[in-house]
Amino acid sequence: MILVVDFGGQYNQLIARRVRDLNVYCELVPFHKALAAAKEKKPTGLIFTGGPSSVYEDQAPQIEAEIFQLGIPILGLCYGMQLIASSLGGRVTRAEFKEFGKTSLDHTGHPLFKDVSQPTQVWMSHADRVAALPEGFTAIASTANCPLAAIADDQRKIYGFQFHAEVNHSLEGRQMLRNFVFDICGEEASWTMANYAKTAIDQVRAQVGDGQVLLGLSGGVDSSVVAALLSKAIGPRLTCIFVDHGLMRKNEGDEVEAAFKDSGMHFIRIDAEDRFLARLAGVTDPEAKRKAIGDEFIRVFEEVGKEIKSVDFLAQGTIYPDVIESGWGDSAVIKSHHNVGGLPDVIEFRGLVEPLRLLFKDEVRKLGKELGLPDYLTNRQPFPGPGLAIRIIGDITKAKLDILREADAIFRSELEASGFQEADQYFAVLTNTQSVGVMGDYRTYDYTLALRSVSTSDFMTADWSRIPYDILDKVSTRIINEVPGINRVVYDITSKPPATIEWE
Ligand code: XMP
Repeated sequence: MILVVDFGGQYNQLIARRVRDLNVYCELVPFHKALAAAKEKKPTGLIFTGGPSSVYEDQAPQIEAEIFQLGIPILGLCYGMQLIASSLGGRVTRAEFKEFGKTSLDHTGHPLFKDVSQPTQVWMSHADRVAALPEGFTAIASTANCPLAAIADDQRKIYGFQFHAEVNHSLEGRQMLRNFVFDICGEEASWTMANYAKTAIDQVRAQVGDGQVLLGLSGGVDSSVVAALLSKAIGPRLTCIFVDHGLMRKNEGDEVEAAFKDSGMHFIRIDAEDRFLARLAGVTDPEAKRKAIGDEFIRVFEEVGKEIKSVDFLAQGTIYPDVIESGWGDSAVIKSHHNVGGLPDVIEFRGLVEPLRLLFKDEVRKLGKELGLPDYLTNRQPFPGPGLAIRIIGDITKAKLDILREADAIFRSELEASGFQEADQYFAVLTNTQSVGVMGDYRTYDYTLALRSVSTSDFMTADWSRIPYDILDKVSTRIINEVPGINRVVYDITSKPPATIEWE
């Protein structure tokens, strides 16, 4: 495995994902635990990430010097390279010219640049630079403003890139990481989801023994993949509770049921549409909707819990970014309990089963395919817990939900059929604006439907999708013709920020 040492930079998870994409296992570890983790886990290589600090500041994250004596190859990126330089006797100063953006890099043909063009484009983002090399190091690449853009000590196998090899704007960055991981660290490409599935199934069997496991299934990718994995591992000793709140997209509830009902597990679908709609009647404020839905979920689970009383284990779809973001394991349990909407409060259990704890989202999707889940589950885009309730502006009725489901299904199927690739989340929103139209010889006074589509990598920021007009035209025509109750279709061209992805 490769250990990625986190110094707080924004691309840290991306580095780990790049290494995993090479079919090599890696983990992220915070810098202050790096030495202990390196001794315990014995990685074949270490990658020091970037970070927002300057190495010469008082509070800047440092690394124990002993890590350089372990004989493990190290690659430092940006702050990681500056830290290597300053820790080993070099000098880091504020750069005369800040470098930010795409930059042309000349390299010496060092093995780290095997199969990399000369020059090549890299992505720079730094205000500090290495001004003097530590003993034993040579420069192996430069840019116009940065004579020490990559450095190497081949004796000790310690290297640094001032640029961010992990981002797409570094056009051949993946090749450079590949060279480090395979040629310098001697890794093998053996981390595949087929291997993972086998190991995870064995681990679950060992953990659970002949115990009973309960899983709250939402139909989202993570809980669906946990369900598939556990049903392979323990079959009938798994009970899945799927609460259908009636706020799902077209056919979604039936699709989830179809995927699991014959899989050997104990599958309970609770049809709770009526009670959720009753609870939501007259609720128009977005946060009040969320709260009402969350409360109702807990009530449903409490009722089920009274019948189940106790299980041995509770399964959860916690994934690696949840583990990282919740503070490296210590608080992960608290956060993930919250994910299952109150289950732990009413049902006694001995422990948690979290078979996706080590996986990134794209790996979860691959694992789902490996386990034989249908594409409509593994490729599912993010869908908010409160469902269509927050995509209907104002009050929610069954009639409005049906209108929205039809229109949303048309939009999604047409966009998918068109081959348009730059949308990470796309859906329809039923506004509460009614306007005048004319259909045939009749005047109409119907709802306005908004189409929303965004491209994003982290859902924290997003850009609206430039969907070609002819696709939008086809979608609009079909919706107006096929969905009674809508007479106007608009397209949302606002990015996030200032808007959010959802309308509520
Ligand atoms: P916003 O609208 O905040 O959405 O830009 C960012 C991402 O989060 C999803 N989202 C939710 N997911 N419960 C959820 O489980 C919610 O209440 C919720 N609100 C927004 C949204 O779909 C997008 O992917």
